[in-house]
Amino acid sequence: MREGQNNVIYRADYQAPGYWIDSVELSFDLDPAKTRVLNRMKLRRNLDAAPQPLRLDGEELNLARVLVNGQGTSFKLEDNQLVLENLPEGGDSFDLEILTTCQPAKNTKLMGLYVSNDSFFTQCEAEGFRRITYFLDRPDVMASFTVLLRADKAKYPVLLSNGNLVDQGDLADGRHFAKWVDPFRKPSYLFALVAGNLVAREQRIRARGGKEHLLQVFVRAGDLDKTEHAMNSLMASIAWDEARFGLPLDLERFMIVATSDFNMGAMENKGLNIFNTKYVLASQATATDTDFANIESVVGHEYFHNWTGNRVTCRDWFQLSLKEGLTVFRDQEFSQDLAGEASARAVKRIEDVRVLRTAQFPEDAGPMAHPVRPDQYLEINNFYTVTVYEKGAEVVRMMQTLVGREGFARGLKLYFERHDGHAVTCDDFAQAIADANPDSTLARLLDQFKRWYSQAGTPRVRASGLYDADARTYRLTLAQSCAPTPGQDVKEPFVIPVGLGLVGADGAELASGMHVLTQESETLTFENIGSEPVPSILRGFSAPVILEFDYSDAQLIALLAHDTDPFNRWEAGQRLAVNRALGFIRDAGVAARDIRLDPPFMNAMRAVLRHPTLDAAFKELVLTLPAETYIAEQLDVVDPQRIHAVREAMREQLARELAPDWEQAFEQHRESGAYRPDPVSSGRRALTGMALSNLCLAARASGDQVWPGKAYQRFKDAGNMTDRFNALAALVTSGSELAAPALQRFHAIFKDEALVLDKWFALQAGAPDRGGNVLPAVKQLMNHPDFNIRNPNRARSVIFSYCSANPGGFHRPDAAGYVFWSERVLELDAINPQVAARLARALDRWKKLVEPLRSAAREAIARVAARPDLSNDVREVVTRALA
Ligand code: ARG
Ligand code: ZN
Repeated sequence: MREGQNNVIYRADYQAPGYWIDSVELSFDLDPAKTRVLNRMKLRRNLDAAPQPLRLDGEELNLARVLVNGQGTSFKLEDNQLVLENLPEGGDSFDLEILTTCQPAKNTKLMGLYVSNDSFFTQCEAEGFRRITYFLDRPDVMASFTVLLRADKAKYPVLLSNGNLVDQGDLADGRHFAKWVDPFRKPSYLFALVAGNLVAREQRIRARGGKEHLLQVFVRAGDLDKTEHAMNSLMASIAWDEARFGLPLDLERFMIVATSDFNMGAMENKGLNIFNTKYVLASQATATDTDFANIESVVGHEYFHNWTGNRVTCRDWFQLSLKEGLTVFRDQEFSQDLAGEASARAVKRIEDVRVLRTAQFPEDAGPMAHPVRPDQYLEINNFYTVTVYEKGAEVVRMMQTLVGREGFARGLKLYFERHDGHAVTCDDFAQAIADANPDSTLARLLDQFKRWYSQAGTPRVRASGLYDADARTYRLTLAQSCAPTPGQDVKEPFVIPVGLGLVGADGAELASGMHVLTQESETLTFENIGSEPVPSILRGFSAPVILEFDYSDAQLIALLAHDTDPFNRWEAGQRLAVNRALGFIRDAGVAARDIRLDPPFMNAMRAVLRHPTLDAAFKELVLTLPAETYIAEQLDVVDPQRIHAVREAMREQLARELAPDWEQAFEQHRESGAYRPDPVSSGRRALTGMALSNLCLAARASGDQVWPGKAYQRFKDAGNMTDRFNALAALVTSGSELAAPALQRFHAIFKDEALVLDKWFALQAGAPDRGGNVLPAVKQLMNHPDFNIRNPNRARSVIFSYCSANPGGFHRPDAAGYVFWSERVLELDAINPQVAARLARALDRWKKLVEPLRSAAREAIARVAARPDLSNDVREVVTRALA
């Protein structure tokens, strides 16, 4: 079935469709084993395109009937397409009726129509609609949808689809029906239906314009008490989009439905968002502060898609970042605005940058590197990436930086004036922002700026400074470069907004501003500088680049203490830590346990921890050592074991030597009052959790049982999941003897809470490796009665937590981790190719590995690649990895 499908698709080959679909009426007879789908469409030829047969996409469908204008017709089935040749000539509309059946209960790919916990759900983005019926399954074909759902009433009392409910009633044999009409034309990827035994939290709101709306969050019966935060987040999202961008809710009814089987985070189907339960359900007893924050941002993200994605959609899937980069930018801004104070905004910004640098930078330097607007793909599902999403958001953020906040809002307004109701490109978006700001740097440099869309790879900005005491000048030279990426050998210079400041020896701010770097190299001169300053470069992380500057320790310590830019203040601490880690790693003669961190570093960290006015959340970020994967990116040859050992040794030393300071931090913040997941109290809990973890780690060396005992007590008594889980994690990561009883107790308490069990699995699979103990533990976890590889959340909690988030445990000298990886990739590929392809990417950076790991990794990848029956998803990843 896959032959003929292994064809790469190129952006340059885009052609408008040969036909338009104006309307579609779908009737479903829902049955898990065999669902009948009657599809009646009105089509017409696109007279601007060359005459051609109609090729409708369809996958894993059983075709029963095809009628054109009510008459039987000849057709061909080839390569997952239904081909019709003898269609009416001219531009008049004609009717096409197609009857098919599909098997939702057997749909383990979770694309198209599938069953989860006895309910029906759909996922159509990117190309899932073709698994429901034959269609022009491409985003530039937009149709009006009418949907009739029929199902057993007792089993499926709730029947939902996009838009408005226009009719419902009972049928014979205990069945019932519901009819939905979507008032907006939409591409097939935004279609959705849900049928099941669900309950809803409901909220009526009146929007600014005075219109009433019904908001609903649908979940399984026992979960209603965990929907308040999602509903609050939805209301906040609606208010925010109106206030910040003047974008109102355009539907009478807006629904969110949660399902525990979902490939990704959530999906913005028009008026009927479908979510992974992970991003809906929260109570203080079951969800951590991070969960609460994620729910807020994902609810916001999907809601914001209603304008950026649905009202204006993508012409083709190469333009995915048009909606995703923009919508991530919008959800980041939403969370920042909700956080309120400048310091809380900065914390959110640092967290976002950390994701970009630990996940996207490696992607951009590896075999899957691609531009924000890719030029080719084999399987589009492989391009729902941190590059398209997070780097795409940085590109939008740079536009806002270049035209200002108001200018950006003006640009977005023009974008909707021009393109509402249409399927457009990244070029259209950039053009609208520039045209609304004709005198801006962006407008002047638009063509060059758009290289951010076309060139892959992370640019480097190499900075160097020269102070002239006599002339009282400081000269700063900025030089940019970008290494080749697959298929792109030469890179042209980017437009790089560089936030700048000069900090005096006494900590005073001597200069600040924004420089837009456009040439390969530029030199700036600052006048009237009385003493040698410390440059603070790339403030706020003003561009997604790697900044190189040979800072001395003293300079970094000065920035950490005084920089007015919180991002660079944090960054100075990270640089101090990375420099030390790299020194130790290269110093191969020194065993990790003999590593000694220097007093200036220790004192700088202590000063932050003890600082009287800094936020707890910010302290926690500074005291968190750079991730192992981030450290690995700074090295040409990577020995994950050595990196892990060095980082752990640094962590232990910080734990031991700052023990009194951790103790003080713990005591100072331990009580956070009535639970509220706001940034300030979340920050306090984060720092308390970190303190407890360090105190348990310190106790490990001394054998002292006081702190593990306190952690166990806190674990038992905690009034919220954040404190409880942090205490549990402190015991597990410090290798305490109390970890086992705590884990057992935790499981007993939460055995019926799937999302909490995911945490329980993930904590163990991601635990620091001690003598190779994690892999056997992971194998045991896979035999646990609660493990189920078909549930993506559960598979991720065990297999991904080990292969992708535990480098010290995964990159075993005996290569057993890689063997495990290849077996799981193949096992998952037979069930769910999308999930398998994500796992396949765990070995993206194999070429950097030290021998013999490098050879062992290549062998494991080659073993997977040698299989003849791979999905396109996995094949694309492993082929690129070996190229
Ligand atoms: N558009 C969704 C979002 O909000 C992602 C859906 C991706 N699904 C997929 N199967 N590739 O980001
Ligand atoms: Zn999205």
